[in-house]
Order: sequence, then C-alpha cells, then structure tokens
Amino acid sequence: MDKKFKRTTVTSALPYANGPVHIGHLAGVYVPADIYVRYLRLKGEEVLFVGGSDEHGVPITIRAKKEGITPQDVVDRYHTLIRDSFKEFGISFDVYSRTSSKTHHQVASDFFKKLYENGKFIEKTTEQYYDEEAQQFLADRYIVGECPRCHATDAYGDQCEKCGSTLSPEELINPISKLSGAKPVKKETKHWYLPLDQHEEWLRQWILEDHKEWRPNVYGQCKSWLDLGLQPRAVSRDLDWGIPVPVEGAEGKVLYVWFDAPIGYISNTKELCDNNPQYGNWEKWWKDEETRLIHFIGKDNIVFHCIVFPAMLKAEGSYIIPDNVPSNEFLNLEGDKISTSRNWAVWLNEYLVEFPNKQDTLRYVLTANAPETKDNDFTWKDFQARNNNELVAIYGNFINRALVLTKKYFDGKVPALNELTDYDKETLKEFSNVKEKLESLLDNFKFRDAQKEAMNLARIGNKYLAETEPWKLAKTDMERTATILHIGLQIAANLAIAFEPFLPFSSAKLRTMLNMPDFSWNQLGKIDLLATGADLGEATLLFEKIEDDVIEGQIQKLQDTKKVNEENEWKPNAIKEETTFDDFCKMDIRVGTVLDCQKVPKADKLLQFKIDDGMGGRTIVSGIAQSYSPEELIGKQVCFIANFPTRKLKGVESQGMILSAVDKDGKLTVISPSRAVTNGAEVG
Ligand code: MF3
Ligand code: ZN
Repeated sequence: MDKKFKRTTVTSALPYANGPVHIGHLAGVYVPADIYVRYLRLKGEEVLFVGGSDEHGVPITIRAKKEGITPQDVVDRYHTLIRDSFKEFGISFDVYSRTSSKTHHQVASDFFKKLYENGKFIEKTTEQYYDEEAQQFLADRYIVGECPRCHATDAYGDQCEKCGSTLSPEELINPISKLSGAKPVKKETKHWYLPLDQHEEWLRQWILEDHKEWRPNVYGQCKSWLDLGLQPRAVSRDLDWGIPVPVEGAEGKVLYVWFDAPIGYISNTKELCDNNPQYGNWEKWWKDEETRLIHFIGKDNIVFHCIVFPAMLKAEGSYIIPDNVPSNEFLNLEGDKISTSRNWAVWLNEYLVEFPNKQDTLRYVLTANAPETKDNDFTWKDFQARNNNELVAIYGNFINRALVLTKKYFDGKVPALNELTDYDKETLKEFSNVKEKLESLLDNFKFRDAQKEAMNLARIGNKYLAETEPWKLAKTDMERTATILHIGLQIAANLAIAFEPFLPFSSAKLRTMLNMPDFSWNQLGKIDLLATGADLGEATLLFEKIEDDVIEGQIQKLQDTKKVNEENEWKPNAIKEETTFDDFCKMDIRVGTVLDCQKVPKADKLLQFKIDDGMGGRTIVSGIAQSYSPEELIGKQVCFIANFPTRKLKGVESQGMILSAVDKDGKLTVISPSRAVTNGAEVG
C-alpha cells in the first residue's frame, strides 16, 4: 500500500431494499469489493468493509403502495433477504446495517444541519408538480405521460423505459399523477441545494489532475460531467418517507435519498465501532488523512460517488475524500440487460437453493467475466464451461491427484523433498513470482486478470503432475515420486492462499484437506508451506461437474420468463385511419342463433355454421376452429355481417362473416349480444 496510508476503509454501494439482489449486483460491486478486502486482510493490513441497505427513496414507497403495506414493511423484508444472500456468498462485511436505523437518522440529520448552519446550501423556491386530489407534491416517478421522444404513453417523469431517454417531468406530454390519476398542477415549493458549481474548481484538480490513475470509464464519466459544468443539486424532496429535513418550517420534506444514502457508510461505521471497541473510534476510518477510502460501485453511481458525495464531505470539512472509486460497467444476462421489473435476472436467493454449496462457482464465473472495462454477458453455457473445464478439470483435478496419490503412496503424510531435476526447478521458477504478479493486479483493481493468474498457478500444477506422471514412477522410484508430490502439495498450499480472496469456501476446504490452519499472504510463492512428514486431512472433491440438464433447466427458466414478458408487453394495434358514419352504415350486422356447427373437412381452421337469421337461415364458414370446438357454440347467439358477397371456402358456400375479438395470443372469441335478442335484429 501507498506509504502515505495506514489503513483502508472500503465501502460497497448500499443496495436499495426494494427487491432481492441478483448476479449483476454481485459481479458489479460486491464480489470485487470482497476480493479486495480479503486480499488486504490476508496481507495483515488494517481494513474495514462497510455495507448496508439503502432504505429510502421513491421506488420503495411505490412498491409499498402497490402491495398495500408500509415502506418499513418493504425494507424490513428485503433488508433481511439481501443481508442473508450476501452472507451466504461469503461477502465479508465488517458491518451490514441499514439507513432506516436510528444511528443513521441521527448522523445524516446532523450532517445536514452542519452544512445548513455553515451556509453550505442555497435555498430555492421552484414550481413542482402537485396532485391536488392526493394533496402532495409528486416525485418524478409518480408522474406518467407521453414520452416527448418516442411517444410511448407510459413514460415516467424521470425516464422513458421504452426508449431509455432521461426526462424531466416538465417534458412529458399530458402528464398525469400516478397517485390519483389527476392532472397535476404546478405549485411552489422550497428546497435546499448543494451548489456543485462552487465546487467545480477543486473537483477538476482533484479528479482530472490528481487521479489520472482512476479507471478510464470512471475518469471519462467524471470528465464529461465536469466539462458540461456542474449545477446546484437539490438535497431535499417533498415526500413522506425518509429523514425529515432538520430545519424549521420544513414539514413534509425529507433528505433526498442520494444525500442520505452515502452518509450511511459513515453511520454504519459508527454503529459498528460504538458497539465493538476492537474497531477503534469510528472517526479514524473517516477523518484521518492516513486512511484510504475506496468506494466500490456500479457505473450508474459514478457521479454520486466521485462528485456529489465528495463535495458533501468537503463542505462538511472534517472528512477524507475517496482515493479511488473502482466502478464496474454492467453485466448482461444471456444478451439482454438485467431487469428487475421484467424478472430478467439470476436472483441470488434462488441460485442458493438451486445450486447449493456452489457459491464459489458463481463467484469464479462472475470474476472471470467481470465487466471491468466494458459491459459483459453472463450465459449459463459459459457458467457450465468455466465450472467444468476450469474449476473441475484444472484446479480440482490437480488438487485431487496430489492428495489421492499422497494418501496412496505416503500414507497421507507430506513426503520428503529430494534432489530436484531441471524440470522441477523450471516449474518452481514459473510460480515463484506469483505473489508480485497478483499484488500488482489486485492493487490496481484488476480482479479478472488476478484470478486468471491464480488459475494459472493451478495450470502449472496440473501440467507438472501430467508430465512427471508420479503414478507411474511410484512403481519404480519412490524417491522421485516423493519429490514430485512434495512439490505438488506445496503448489496446492499456494493455491489455497492465492484463491482465498476469490474462492473463500474452496480455499477453506482445501486448507482443511492440507491441514494448514494458519496461512498468510506472505507465504505465497514459497515451497515451505507444508512441513515434510506433516499429516494431511481428508481428501474431498473441491468442485463438482455441472451436468447439461441442470443448465438446460436454467435456460428454460429464462425462456419462460421471456415468454411471460412478451405476453405482458402486448399492446393494442394502432387505431386505423378515420372512417365515416356512412361507411359504417353500409355494413349490415345482424344477430342469429347457431343451430348447428361442424368442422369443414380437410381444413383445420374452418368451422361451418348453420345460423337461424330470422329470414330462413344461412350457412357461414368461419376460421375459428382453433379457438372453439364445434359443440361449444351451438345454441349461442352471434353477430355476423349479413351483406357480404357469398364466397366459397373449401368447397362450402359461406353467406357472411361471424364477428369475433382477437386476443393478444391470437385466440378468437365470438361476439354475442349480452341479452337474448330476436334473430335477424340489426346491430348498429
Ligand atoms: N441504492 C443505490 C443503488 O442501488 C446505491 C446507493 S450507494 C450510496 O443504485 F452511496 F448511496 F449508499
Ligand atoms: Zn420514449
């Protein structure tokens, strides 16, 4: 670590507690943060890993309204679910708390008050949309209307989900309130703003000059924001869910969720330290120049963590600002954007049930495919291939061979290291620099390449055993066999350390097999990790093959989701061009009773009807055989066009056309009068 720092505070974005977490969260934020923290801990550094749930904001109130429960009910449910999922995946937070906690309300409120009292905000009165029926101001998400760009009719006040445009509520055509359906009116309201424009100068210097080492995606996004020029940002909202603005006359106003949530990192640290003296005073993690602050986030959070939150911290005056903000791009799923509302995701709570004890497999695949520099795709086939061809075939296979052979030929004790051949020396040299390589990658947040390097060590081991073939040598040369297995076991011990940040469950398992309770990062690259003669533990399989049917099941599950979505996405056809009353009157629509109905031979779509039309009867052929069985309609009244020219369909003369509605799946439903009417009656 950089000499000027003594310790590291690592934060990972607080997920919104309004739904379960999915692989995108894990890949984007929590796995990389956890790898980093585990690495620092293994090096013996002083590090704190802060997480928690983000429990304010409008989407939570919308969800509560929809389900008829309180916002607190919503966040209670998801906070627990999310916290447990993270725990199961080995995300090793020192603290995972929540922004609805008492401590957080206090800390965030005090933070606001200090800025307010020191004149760090500006006050502005603006006109906002207001729902007179519901008697409240409308958050952007509570206003829907026509998108000014693509003319979708269900765009939100902040965004159109159809075309992806960012909007402001003023831009919507014919806005209506989602609360009451009323047309919103403009009403004056006062809010507090953080004048980011006043922070522009130091932000430019700090990011663009002093932190050129930030990831290009992060640096680039910051540069575009700064080049566009920063504007004051409102830090309060008219809403009844959140932390009340601690200023007189601010009834009905709460802190904007993006103001309070990042302060949650601080509150959660405080809560931890106040209850666990071994962590020291909370302030050392946030106010000491020798503490390095690192934020792990997804790319939609960049502006808040690189510009807004640092400006808040600077305005407060006593805090450090981040040293790096390693943000990932997005992970897609089978070629499509992950979406909570369309259920297009692999949910962690479901994965844990469907793939018990396979947390490391998912961790491995998500890191191997981490969207570090560009959006990336998760596919189930790739998941299976990486598990079977890498974890099982390389890492697992190597470990298994080394252990089973030792058990077989040396009674499960580490055999002696005898004379080394050139090939042995070459192999040892090949992995002697693994420590430096891993460090330079991990220090620079290149987790994908770092994991590759760890896997390369397993490759070296696998190749070594494959080429030296100790199982053959054991018949003739026990001394040589001992040396080979000794080296093999030392490589295995190295793997347990190298993979600990990435695959903590497997590393723990491997350490049990190797009987190495104590270990440290500094042992990496050495070959004295296991003492000659030491007893090994029980050998078990490190990874299991994943079969095709399991993967097909997952792919099928996604296909079913797609189908449901397509059905839900059905929209009525556009209205046809205008017609006239006269044109309508030309149609002679009548009511008749179905006397008989049967299939038309050799035509799978056609039914032939005998209709009592009050005028002696007629035959009509209709293409609805796939929606009705013939008996279903006998005795029913239907509507039909009576003045169509007669046509021959599959040899049967049809005198008219029966009217039906076409449903979204193409199914036809015959139109009947809602009361019995005289056959032959006109429809109009
Ligand atoms: N809840 C936000 C999101 O999921 C992240 C908040 S990060 C914090 O996008 F800094 F505000 F906590
Ligand atoms: Zn649009």
